[in-house]
Amino acid sequence: MARFPIEEIFSLCILVVFLLFETCHAHLCLISPTQRGSLAGINKEGNDNCFQIKGPCGKLPQSKDGVIVRPGQTLSVTFQKNLDHFLSSSPGNFTVAFGRATTFQILTTVPDKGEKSLTLYTALVKIPLVKGSYAIQVIYNTNNPKAPAQFFQCADIMVENL
Ligand SMILES: *[C@@H]1O[C@H](CO)[C@@H](O)[C@H](O)[C@H]1NC(C)=O
Repeated sequence: MARFPIEEIFSLCILVVFLLFETCHAHLCLISPTQRGSLAGINKEGNDNCFQIKGPCGKLPQSKDGVIVRPGQTLSVTFQKNLDHFLSSSPGNFTVAFGRATTFQILTTVPDKGEKSLTLYTALVKIPLVKGSYAIQVIYNTNNPKAPAQFFQCADIMVENL
């Protein structure tokens, strides 16, 4: 008869709990412009700094020193799929939007084609012809019933003429 020492059963339980927990999460990091909060540890999957599920910008406050961009300029937005949740039967996407407070307009959408965790994506967007304090918002729409529907990151920017 097989024997399962208590330590082994315990380790197995921890592993199962860990796997269950991990499959319930997806993560999104916004690298450039830089997301609110920290980017520490983004070379590891499932980074807490990249876990924001409250819209429109996660739970961190607006930061005062956002990068300066010009009205109408083309901005390169780089973000990372920190943890993959692709389902081939219902692929998700990433939207890049511009706005402030609770009003955001989508500037472009990048399809999720099942790239693995830690993949970087770059999207070129045109900043609208406005001035003032705004945010670039990226949403990971997982379209996966086993994960939260959306992950959010925002980077604060200041739109002004140089
Ligand atoms: C992106 O995903 C959202 C949520 O699943 C969906 O409503 C939207 O139509 C998708 N956008 C595109 C361009 O496919």
